[in-house]
Amino acid sequence: MRREPPPIGAGTAVIRHCAFRHCTFRYGGMAASLAGYFAQSIRGWSTGLAFPAVALLLLLSTGFAAAQDASDIYRQHCATCHGSDRFGASGPALLPENLTRLRRTKAIKTISEGRVATQMPAFSDTLSTAQIDAVAEFLYTPQEKPPVWTLDDIRASRIEYGDAATLPAKPVFSADPLNLFVVVETGDHHVTILDGDRFEPITRFATRYALHGGPKFSSDGRFVHFMSRDGWVSKYDLWNLRTVAEVRAGLNSRNLAASGDGRYLAVGNTLPQTLVILDANNLQPVKVLRVADLQGNASRVSAVYDARPRSSFIVALKDVAEVWEVSYDDDAEPIYNGMVHDYKLEEGVAIDGKLNPRRTILDEPLDDFFFDTSYSWLVGAARNGGEDQVVNLDVRRKITSIALPGLPHLGSGISWERDGRTLLATPNLREAAVSVIDMQDWTLIRQIPTNGPGFFCAVTKTATTHG
Ligand code: HEC
Repeated sequence: MRREPPPIGAGTAVIRHCAFRHCTFRYGGMAASLAGYFAQSIRGWSTGLAFPAVALLLLLSTGFAAAQDASDIYRQHCATCHGSDRFGASGPALLPENLTRLRRTKAIKTISEGRVATQMPAFSDTLSTAQIDAVAEFLYTPQEKPPVWTLDDIRASRIEYGDAATLPAKPVFSADPLNLFVVVETGDHHVTILDGDRFEPITRFATRYALHGGPKFSSDGRFVHFMSRDGWVSKYDLWNLRTVAEVRAGLNSRNLAASGDGRYLAVGNTLPQTLVILDANNLQPVKVLRVADLQGNASRVSAVYDARPRSSFIVALKDVAEVWEVSYDDDAEPIYNGMVHDYKLEEGVAIDGKLNPRRTILDEPLDDFFFDTSYSWLVGAARNGGEDQVVNLDVRRKITSIALPGLPHLGSGISWERDGRTLLATPNLREAAVSVIDMQDWTLIRQIPTNGPGFFCAVTKTATTHG
């Protein structure tokens, strides 16, 4: 996905953040993945050799009982920590959407062996192999009724840690508060705050399970917001080095954006299929928007971005061919959805322009984006490497397509001015070339060969990036 822009602090200094590709520490993750692979090959080999006996045994002794009892096993052994609805409690949520990055073999290994230095116990002594397999299967099976997480649920989940208003409005440490590094350690769910001048840790603290999407800073640089895989949003006071509030905005979330005016946060969810607007000050939910096209087809959010020059959030949808713009401007023009000619859609009836979706209809859903600095233009890559769509957000429609066969990684694109024209360079994931596009007429002006497919474009000081 699109690289998050570096957050700008007050004044001229810049607060940098390091998450994911930038400088996420993954030491725990690497060891775990090797071990998982090893366990998988042993499992495959032994089952292969002993197939008839194993098959018979499974049928006779455990297969039937284990499959049937998986939900009972869960209720008895797992629900206290993972929640009776699998939404998570002291342990993480165990719904298929939340487990997409955990291979099933690894889940089985986790259940059998537990996780060292965490609350997750080993079950190899308590449950048979077949029971462990059955409960793992159960975790990857969607619930009968799609899980719901309403405005009331969000409101009820909110936690305030003391009265933030009484905390001193100055840093409790001597380092430059506008030159801090926030390092998200995904392996063991901690964050380290580093003094950006000396590269010395100021503090390190445990976070919610599996933060992702990049931390978002308040414009004065005092607060940073984190979002977890399971939809928890945490507001951390960098000056007082403590979490001040938390709320669960969804059950499985993609990412978080902070409005340029500092008033709102937007959380894009996969489960349920909603966009949640929070009050950035106290994390109270302001609004839950159901994400669906005008015909009612629901969609996961693939990402939400702040488009500061437009006072709006731009929302990329995964399953329907639309891009949304959700304005946070108090004076936003009303929205008419009447452009779609269908009498059922109450053509011509306006809805409030603030915090409601303004839709741009596309040819197909987009997966990866590049915005120009004004956020008027959007270049989006289709999921399967088809044509890239150039969309103007002011006129709300697709203007043209560019054929970029090498699967451009537009989220890592950069733009700069040359001879009065704005050029966009993007690496390609499938082709050893950097594509350079003229953003005035959207022509591909050069394919610069590289030694291999690329992931990022870097910029020099004179160029601008807003990727
Ligand atoms: C005492 C609390 C506790 C119990 C009981 C428990 N778990 Fe866990 N489980 C955890 C915690 C905490 C984690 C997160 C560990 C970590 O930080 O990596 C976890 C992690 C997991 C994971 C990995 C999730 C991921 O996204 O990586 C799976 C799968 C899992 N548990 C399944 C189970 C199953 C199945 C049971 C019941 C048979 C169970 N757990 C019982 C606390 C518990």
